Amino acid sequence: MSEVAEKMSPDPTKIGADAETVLDVQGLKRYFDVSPPFLNRLIERTDKAFLKAVDGIDFRIERGETFSLVGESGCGKSTVARLVVGLYSPTGGSVTFEGQEIGGLSRKELVPVRRRMQMIFQDPYASLNPRWRVEDIIAEPIRFFGLTNNNNETLQRVGELLQLVNLSPKDMEKYPHEFSGGQRQRISIARALASEPDFLVCDEPTSALDVSVQAQILNLMKDLQKRLNLTYLFISHNLAVVYHMSDHIGVMYLGRLAEVAPAKTLFEKPRHPYTKLLLDTIPDLDMTGRERVPVAGEVPNPINPPSGCAFHPRCPFANDRCKAERPEPIKMPDGAAVACHGVEEGRIPEGPISGIASQDI
Ligand SMILES: Nc1ncnc2c1ncn2[C@@H]1O[C@H](COP(=O)(O)OP(=O)(O)OP(=O)(O)O)[C@@H](O)[C@H]1O
Ligand code: SF4
Ligand SMILES: [Mg+2]
Repeated sequence: MSEVAEKMSPDPTKIGADAETVLDVQGLKRYFDVSPPFLNRLIERTDKAFLKAVDGIDFRIERGETFSLVGESGCGKSTVARLVVGLYSPTGGSVTFEGQEIGGLSRKELVPVRRRMQMIFQDPYASLNPRWRVEDIIAEPIRFFGLTNNNNETLQRVGELLQLVNLSPKDMEKYPHEFSGGQRQRISIARALASEPDFLVCDEPTSALDVSVQAQILNLMKDLQKRLNLTYLFISHNLAVVYHMSDHIGVMYLGRLAEVAPAKTLFEKPRHPYTKLLLDTIPDLDMTGRERVPVAGEVPNPINPPSGCAFHPRCPFANDRCKAERPEPIKMPDGAAVACHGVEEGRIPEGPISGIASQDI
C-alpha cells in the first residue's frame, strides 16, 4: 500500500498555520542557452540547445528557519541561489520575497530588496577585495544604504559587527590576507550583516574550510540566526553539514527537487532512492573528517538529460514507467514531498538501499 496522501500542494515546507513566509519559490526555472554559434548550427543543421540548470522547483521558507538545498555538483544549487537574490532572472516561475515578486524588478527596484537579503559565498578570499581594509569592506554596505549619519557612527557599527562575529574591532585596520580562512569567512558574514538583512543565502559557506573550522562557522551562523531572527537558505553538497543547520531540506537532482522534508524526517525516513543513496554515503554525522563515498554512477549531462525520471540510469528501482514519465512531487502525510514513481507505487523498501543492484529488485 502506498502511503501517498495527496498531490503535493504548493506549500510542502510550511511549518505551521501562523508561520510567516519569507521566501516563496514556485515553478522556478532557469535555462541557459548553450547553442553553438548560428553559422555552425546552419552548417550542421542542429537546433538551439538549452541547459536546464533549474527546471521547475517549489519551496517555501518561513521566518527564522533554515531551508537547505543539497545535491551533487552541477545539480543547480548555485543557480537557485542566484535566482533567489535576483542575480539571474527566471526563465519561468517566480521568487517572492516577503510578499514581493522579485523576478521582474529593475536594478533600481531591487536595491531595497538587496538590503534585506544578502549572500555569503564559498570562498571568502575571492569575495573580499584584497586591496581594501576590513573597515572599508564592512563599511561599504552601511554607506551604500545610508544606514548611519556620519563616519564615526559607521566605524562604531563596523566595530560592533566585528564583535558580533567574534573578531576584534581592532581587526578593521587589517587586510583580508592577514586572516585565516575561518576568520575571512567571519568577515564575509559581518559584511553580509552590515545592511541589517532578514534573510541570508549561504552558498557552501564552509566547504573551503577545515573540518574543525567548519563547525565553528556553522555554530556562529546558528547563534546569529537566533540572536537576529535571521532566515537562511543554506546550500551544500554535504548532507552531514546541513543536518546540523536545517529545519527543512530539499534534495536536488539535475535541476529538480527529488525530495523536500523536515530535516529530522529526511534523515530518519528518507523516501526517494537518491536521498537514501546520499545518506548511505555519509560516514557519520559528526563530521570527523572521514571522506564521503560518492553515489555510484555519473551525474548525466544536463544538456541532454535522461528521459522520464532523470535519476533512472542510476536507480536500482527504475522500471519502464520511470524511463518514460517524469515524476511530479507528491505530498506525504508528515509534510515531506517526494517525486518518485516507486514511492507513489509503494515499492521502495524502507531503510538503506546501498549495495542493492538493479537485478535484485
Ligand atoms: N552561466 C551559465 N551558462 C551556462 N551553463 C551554466 C551557467 N551557470 C551554471 N551553468 C550550468 O548549470 C548547471 C548547474 O550549475 P550550478 O552552478 O547551479 O550547480 P551547483 O549545484 O551549484 O554545482 P556545484 O556543487 O559544483 O557548485 C551546471 O551544469 C552548470 O554547468
Ligand atoms: S521515479 Fe523511478 S527511477 Fe526515479 S527515483 Fe523513483 S523509482 Fe527510481
Ligand atoms: Mg554551486
